[in-house]
Amino acid sequence: MPSENAARAPADAPARAAKDNREKFLERAMSRHNYSGDALIEVLHTAQELYGHLTPELLRTIAAKLRLPPSHVLGVATFYHFFSLEPKGEHSFIVCLGTACYVKGALGLLATLERRCAKAGSTSPDGRVSVDSARCIGACGLAPAIIRNGEIVGRLSAAQLDAELDGIGVP
Ligand code: FES
Repeated sequence: MPSENAARAPADAPARAAKDNREKFLERAMSRHNYSGDALIEVLHTAQELYGHLTPELLRTIAAKLRLPPSHVLGVATFYHFFSLEPKGEHSFIVCLGTACYVKGALGLLATLERRCAKAGSTSPDGRVSVDSARCIGACGLAPAIIRNGEIVGRLSAAQLDAELDGIGVP
């Protein structure tokens, strides 16, 4: 009968291989653009897709490879709301604060999330819920709208949002 370690080894191996491949994928994305600084946003997108969020080490690596000042890379990564410097939670809520949503009560939705989960731009301490805001998500007819786990949810009231948070076990 195989030992416990031997039985576990095959399961560990693919995980390590996948991790190694991320570096190669990122390198390939940069080399595809001849390591040009003009490809910064696309490279940051690739890095975030591969790693989930942009760590300081990733930003330093990208700055060095694209021969850009690290402050410029950090500035771009923090300017666009779709880039995250922190790990995302299990559930993600992005509240639209564009004009149509704002006048229909988006601030109430954001206040609910910030009261129960985390400030906009961050993740709850237990790592379960990420909260963010956006300017307009292109669903003004559904105002107030949010993006919940990648999907647009419109005409949402603070009470409905409270019920959703109850449903996923947010205290
Ligand atoms: S203002 Fe919220 S979707 Fe356009």
